[in-house]
Amino acid sequence: MQILAIINNKGGVGKTTSAVNLAAAFAEKGKKTLLVDLDPAASASLHLGMDRTQDEQPTICDYLLNGAQNLKNYIYPTAFQGLDCVPSEPALSEFYEEMVQEAEIDYFIKPDDFPDKYDFVFLDCPPNLGNLAYNALAISDFVLIPVQTQFLALTGLELTLKTVQKVQRHLNPDLQILGYFGTQFDRRTRAAKEVVQLLNKRFGKEVFRTVIGVNTKLVEAYNAQKPILSYASSARGAKEYRALADEILKRLKKKSKV
Ligand SMILES: Nc1ncnc2c1ncn2[C@@H]1O[C@H](COP(=O)(O)OP(=O)(O)OP(=O)(O)O)[C@@H](O)[C@H]1O
Ligand SMILES: [Mg+2]
Repeated sequence: MQILAIINNKGGVGKTTSAVNLAAAFAEKGKKTLLVDLDPAASASLHLGMDRTQDEQPTICDYLLNGAQNLKNYIYPTAFQGLDCVPSEPALSEFYEEMVQEAEIDYFIKPDDFPDKYDFVFLDCPPNLGNLAYNALAISDFVLIPVQTQFLALTGLELTLKTVQKVQRHLNPDLQILGYFGTQFDRRTRAAKEVVQLLNKRFGKEVFRTVIGVNTKLVEAYNAQKPILSYASSARGAKEYRALADEILKRLKKKSKV
C-alpha cells in the first residue's frame, strides 16, 4: 500500500479536485483506492456525494473521538467503482486541535489503521499547515504538490516545502516528494505559461509533464458530486487526470513502490 498526501498551504489550488479525480483515475485502472478527507471543510466528501449535514454517517471526526479504533467502520463505498472514502466534517478542526493540545497522541491516525486491501490511499489535506497536515505527512510515503499556474504561485510553495522538510527531519525520514503538477492552466495567458516555465526551472524532473488545464467540467463535476471521470468521461479534465495518474504510477514503479 502506498499513501500519498496532496498538499499545498495555498487555498484553492486544486488539492481536492486533484485528490478526488486522481483517486478515481487510480480506481478506474483497477487499483483498490481509498480517499481520506482530512480537511474539516469536507470538500472531498461532498465531491464524492457524502454530506454530513444531510446524513448522519460517522466521519473521521467520530473515529478520532472514539479512540481511533477500527477505521474500517468509517470507510464508505462511493458511487465510483473501486473508490472508497473516509468522509470529514467541520467539527474535525476543533476536536483535533484540542486532542493535540492535550497530547493525546494515541489519536493520531497511523498507517496501520488503513485496511490492507487498499493499493493506494490518497489524503486530501487542508490548506493550513496545522496538525492535521503534519499528521498526514507523518504517515505518508509520498507527497504530491499541485501548483496553481498563476502569479506568485511559487513564492507560497516555500512554506509547503519547509513543512515537508521539517516532517522528514523529525517525524518521517522516508517521506519523499513524488512531484509537482500545474493546475488551472489557462492556455491563453502568458502568465500561466511563465509559471509552468518557472516551475520546471526550479524543480526540473520533479515536475510532471501533465498540466491540468482550466476546465469548467471539473467545476460542474464538483457541483454534481461526482469525479469528472464519471460525470464527463471524455472531457479534457478527465483525460488530463488520467494522464497524470499514468505518470504518477510510472514514477512509483521507477521507485519500485508498485
Ligand atoms: N482545472 C480546473 N479548472 C477549473 N476549475 C477548477 C480546476 N481545478 C479546481 N477548480 C475549481 O477551483 C476551486 C478550488 O479547487 P479545489 O477545491 O480543488 O482547491 P483546494 O486546493 O482543495 O482548495 P482548499 O485549499 O480550499 O481546500 C473549486 O471551485 C474547483 O471546482
Ligand atoms: Mg480542498
